Amino acid sequence: MIRKEIIDEIKARIDILDVVGDYVNLKKQGSNYRGFSPFNQEKTPSFYVVPSKGFYKDFSSGKAGDAISFMMESEGMSYIEALKQLGKRYGIEVEEENLTDEEMEAQSEKDSLYIVMKYASDYFQEQLWKSEEGKAIGLTYFKERGFSEETIKAFDLGYSLDEWDGMLKMAIKVGHKQEMLEKAGLIISRERKEGTRHYDRFRGRVMFPIHNISGRVIAFGARLLKNNPEVEQPKYLNSPETPIYHKSDVLYGIYQAKQQIRQEDTCYLVEGYTDVISLYQAGIQNVVASSGTSLTQEQIRLIARYTKNVTVLFDGDPAGLKASFRGIDMILEGGLNVKAVVLPEGEDPDSYVRKLGGRHSGGSQFREFLQEKQQDFISFKTAVYQEETERDPIRRAEVIREIVQSISKIPDPIQRQVYIKETSVKLGMDESTLFAELNKIYLKQQRSSSRQQTYEEQEKGVADIDFVHPEEPLDEPASVGIEEAILSKEKELTRVLVMYGHHPVKEDYMVCHYIKDELDDISLKHDIYQRIFSTYYQHVDTQKSLMEKFMIEQTEAEVSRQVINLIVDHYMPSPNWEQREVYVPKKDEKILDVITRSIDQLKFDVLKFMLAQKTLELKDETDINNVILIQKELIELQKIYNKIANKYGTVVPR
Ligand code: GTP
Ligand code: MN
Repeated sequence: MIRKEIIDEIKARIDILDVVGDYVNLKKQGSNYRGFSPFNQEKTPSFYVVPSKGFYKDFSSGKAGDAISFMMESEGMSYIEALKQLGKRYGIEVEEENLTDEEMEAQSEKDSLYIVMKYASDYFQEQLWKSEEGKAIGLTYFKERGFSEETIKAFDLGYSLDEWDGMLKMAIKVGHKQEMLEKAGLIISRERKEGTRHYDRFRGRVMFPIHNISGRVIAFGARLLKNNPEVEQPKYLNSPETPIYHKSDVLYGIYQAKQQIRQEDTCYLVEGYTDVISLYQAGIQNVVASSGTSLTQEQIRLIARYTKNVTVLFDGDPAGLKASFRGIDMILEGGLNVKAVVLPEGEDPDSYVRKLGGRHSGGSQFREFLQEKQQDFISFKTAVYQEETERDPIRRAEVIREIVQSISKIPDPIQRQVYIKETSVKLGMDESTLFAELNKIYLKQQRSSSRQQTYEEQEKGVADIDFVHPEEPLDEPASVGIEEAILSKEKELTRVLVMYGHHPVKEDYMVCHYIKDELDDISLKHDIYQRIFSTYYQHVDTQKSLMEKFMIEQTEAEVSRQVINLIVDHYMPSPNWEQREVYVPKKDEKILDVITRSIDQLKFDVLKFMLAQKTLELKDETDINNVILIQKELIELQKIYNKIANKYGTVVPR
C-alpha cells in the first residue's frame, strides 16, 4: 500500500491538463478544454477537461474521473500503478510498504495476474540465459536470427524448457497460486481418469512477451524452434484472452516504440514479432505489429495517441496485398494519414533489413528504402488496381468503387477532395464521376447509420445525466415507473448534497445537516447514491472549499464517475445541453425550500412504493395474525403519506 501522505502529495501536484494532454489534443473553450475522445472515435469532440475541478468527462463513452482514473482508463493500469506512474512524472518517490497477507489478498485480480505474468517472464528469461537447454537451443536460435544480446534483453525474450511442468512446479514452489497461473493462461489443466492434470502451456519454445503500453507483460507469443513433421503444431502459440490480455487491443512492440513514434511522428506497422525486433535492432524503433491478425479499431486508436502518421509495410507477397486493404480503410477512417511500402517479393521486413546489411548499416539502407518507396495509400491502392484494369477493362467500375470506398473513409473533406482530384488524373477520368461514386457511398451509409444512431443516442443520451427540475410537475407514476421516480429524486438530492452540502444555512448549520435532519432515517435505495451520501457524511469535516474536489477524487472509480456526472452540467456544455434543465438555486435561503420539497418527493415516492409492496404482501398472506400486522403497518404508512400530501395541499409534490 502507498502511504496516504504520498498519495496526497501526488494529488496536489497533478495537473490534469498536462496528464490528459499526452493523449488528447485539447483546445481551450471558456475556462474548460475540449478535444476528441481518446476512448472512442468521434466526429465532433465531446471530451472535456475542467481544470479548475481536476476532472474530465467523456460524453462519447460516459467515462469521467480525475487524472488518476484517466491514467487507469487509458493505460489499463491499476490504481497503484497509476499513482506510481504519476509519482514518477512529478518526481515524487513512491514507495510501496510491505503488504500484509490481507492486503495481498485484497489486491485486485488484475494486479495478481500482472504479478504472475512478470514472474513467468522472468522465469523464461532466466531459462534462456542460464539453463543449459535454454542457452544451447533458445539463445542459439535468437543469435542465428541475428538478434543481439541487447535486443534480446530489450524485448525480454525468453525460453520455455521442453518439460511438462517445469514452470508450474517452480512457480508453486515460490508461492504462486495454481489458480492464478491458470487464469493467466500459463498452465493448462486436463481431466484424466486419474484426476486433473496440470501442465505448462508453453514448452520447448522461444518466448516473446507481449507488453502493454506501460511495459507490463500481459501475454506471450511462443515460437516453435524446429518443424517436426510428425506432430502438427502451430508456429506460434499465444496466450489465451485473460482479464489483462485482450488480443484485439494490443500492438506488439508499442511499449518499446512509443517514445520514438512520438519523436518521429510516424509509426511503422508490420505483421510479425520478428519484424518488430529486427527493425528495432536496426535503429528503426518506431515500429509495431498487429501480430498477424487484421487490424482493429482499438489498435488504431492506440497508435493515434502518439501520431497521426502510419506507414504500413506490406510483405512482398502480391496475393496477400488486397486482403490487407480493408484494415487500412479503418486507419483512414480514424483520421490518420496512411502510407504504404511494399517489400521486394518473398521478403518480410525482418528478412529484408538483414539482407540490406548488418545491424547498423542495414538500418540506414532500410530507411533509405522506406523513404524512396513509400507513397500515400490511396495512390498506392490506385496503382495496384490500375494494373488490373489495364489487363481487364471490364473491371474498371469495380476498381473505381474500391478506391473511392477508401477515400470515403477519410474524415477530412478537403483531403478527400485532393484525393479525388489526384485519383481522377491517375485513372484518366472525370472528377465528377468519382464524386458521384463518393456520394453514392455516403447515401448508403447514411441510410444504415441513421437507424443505428438513434439507437445509440437512446442508449447513452439522457439516461446518463438527467436532472429533474424540482418545481416542475412530473408525470404521474402510471407512466413513470415508481422505481424510476425514486431514482431520479435520489439523484437530484445527491446532486444538491454534493454541490451545495457545505453551504451555510446559519452559523454551524449547513445544507448537509439540514438534509440529514430532513431525511430522518431513510436510506437511499440506490446503492451508488447511498455510497456517495455515506462518503460525504464520513468526511463532513472537510473544508468547504475542498469538499467538491474531495468527492471528485474518490478512489472508488464509480463514486467519482457518478459525482462528476451529477455536477458536470454546471461546468461545461454537453451534447444534450438544450434538452436538460438544471436547477441552480439563486439564493441560499431558497435552497432549503428546494431541498425540503425534494426530500418530501422522495419520501412520498418511497411511501408509495412501500404501500404497494405491503398491499401485495397482504394479498398472499393466509395467516390471520400476519394479516392484522400488515394491515396495521399499512395504516401507519397511509398516515404519513397523507401528512405529506396535506402539507402540499391538494397538489401532491409531484
Ligand atoms: P518468423 O517466421 O519467425 O520470421 O516469424 P514472423 O514473426 O515473421 O511470423 P509470420 O510472418 O509467419 O507471421 C506474422 C505474425 O503472425 C507472427 O509474428 C505471429 O504474431 C502471427 N502468427 C504466425 N503464425 C502463427 C500461428 O501459427 N499461430 C498464431 N496464433 N499466430 C501466428
Ligand atoms: Mn518472418
